[in-house]
Amino acid sequence: MRCTVFGTGYLGTTHAICMAELGHHVLGVDTDPGKITKLSSGQLPFYEPDLEPLLRRNLAVGRLHFTTSYPDAAQFADLHILTVGTPSAADGHTADLTDLYAVANQLAALIERPAVILGKSTVPAGTAARLAAHLREQSPTCDFELAWNPEFLREGHALQDALRPDRIVLGVDMERTLGRSRAEQQARHLYADQLKAGVPLVVTNLETAELAKMAANAYLATKISFINAISDLCEGVGADVRALADILGHDPRIGRFGLDAGIGFGGGCLPKDLRALAKQAGELGAVDAAMLLREVEQINLHRRVRVVDLARQACGGSLRAAHVAVLGAAFKAESDDVRDSPALHVSAAIQQHGAFVTVYDPKALDNARQSYPTLTFATTITHACENADVVLVLTEWEQFAALNPDELTRLVRNRSIIDGRSSLDSTRWREAGWAYRAPGIPKTCDQLSP
Ligand SMILES: NC(=O)c1ccc[n+]([C@@H]2O[C@H](COP(=O)([O-])OP(=O)(O)OC[C@H]3O[C@@H](n4cnc5c(N)ncnc54)[C@H](O)[C@@H]3O)[C@@H](O)[C@H]2O)c1
Repeated sequence: MRCTVFGTGYLGTTHAICMAELGHHVLGVDTDPGKITKLSSGQLPFYEPDLEPLLRRNLAVGRLHFTTSYPDAAQFADLHILTVGTPSAADGHTADLTDLYAVANQLAALIERPAVILGKSTVPAGTAARLAAHLREQSPTCDFELAWNPEFLREGHALQDALRPDRIVLGVDMERTLGRSRAEQQARHLYADQLKAGVPLVVTNLETAELAKMAANAYLATKISFINAISDLCEGVGADVRALADILGHDPRIGRFGLDAGIGFGGGCLPKDLRALAKQAGELGAVDAAMLLREVEQINLHRRVRVVDLARQACGGSLRAAHVAVLGAAFKAESDDVRDSPALHVSAAIQQHGAFVTVYDPKALDNARQSYPTLTFATTITHACENADVVLVLTEWEQFAALNPDELTRLVRNRSIIDGRSSLDSTRWREAGWAYRAPGIPKTCDQLSP
């Protein structure tokens, strides 16, 4: 098949590459010429494991191209996939749909043959129906069907998630298409390999598809905030949240994923989607949902304050003039994405308390520097930890879990470490003479699980 992908960010680039990998002919479109130049020369504009070789391979065989030209894109295919960003608007709550409307408006004005527009961006329920009505009004001669195909991939695992998703969801306008959706036909062709491999396809109405993505993110966020709230209880009674999470996780009704206590969630998706869903719930009078989702967000933000408190305690009650090493800037491991990163938020808060903060991250330093220019950044762990009064591990990179406490001992001023991701072996650090602190892990309690 031939398709275009509008918006070559984290999602769009991955999707464009994976569709080409499946054998389709794909044209990626973005308004950022820098991104398009990089992608066209085989370089990813962000870090994502294993993706760059596939980019190069598909460029080389001629199945993948990139452009800034909308007219070229409108001519290239009759299936157009929208993956532009939907960040929080200036009010901090609603989804900003400016880019989505911009791309759809421009594209609809150029479409000359019957086309399918497939939205993949995450949007509040009701967006697709409103956008379709708007396009019919703006471009009355454009023959299009708009469907929604939300994406569930995780940064850091984007390739495997996009090539072998858990499920494919397709929302169609049931009333207009009456069981003869062109979008469904095209989606079945586009994802034929995955469907053949047994990936379930759920075809539903537009609103269910849109809401399913928001609800999935809200559920994951709730699970993370749940374990973080319970971690306070653990500290109060002398329980170890890591063992507790393992015990809960063995229950198939619960599952272990998302139960690592720490500084909470961040990134370009969960926080903004949670806020947008809470806002929509409030507007619709779904009071319980609004209350629950707002509480999940509050708990999440409070985790950051909690880690700042732990750092203050580790520095004897004041952070003024303390030297603080922060390991991690990305919102999660295996990504260079620093959007709403808890690690950087905590680093900036500690700096505001008068500390000298030096941050190291294996992949996210450039993005971190742009977002937080007043922080100091180090290009090695050694440099970040020199003379530190306390070391904070705030992103769960494997290389931090593998650190040798004895080697770090030679660098720091105080052997004090805060594990903001429950990712270190506390026994090892304590045996090496370090004061190890982590949310939900009592001061004297070492790993109980085997
Ligand atoms: N990042 C993820 O892992 C992920 C996963 C699932 C869903 N999503 C959703 O996908 C959407 C995109 O997220 P992202 O993280 O890739 O965002 P992003 O900011 O990385 O990428 C958006 C891209 O769209 C481009 N763009 C903006 N306006 C444009 C226009 N008019 N025409 C063409 N390109 C335009 C930008 O230049 C940018 O490259 C969001 O709705 C997000 O919630 C993201």
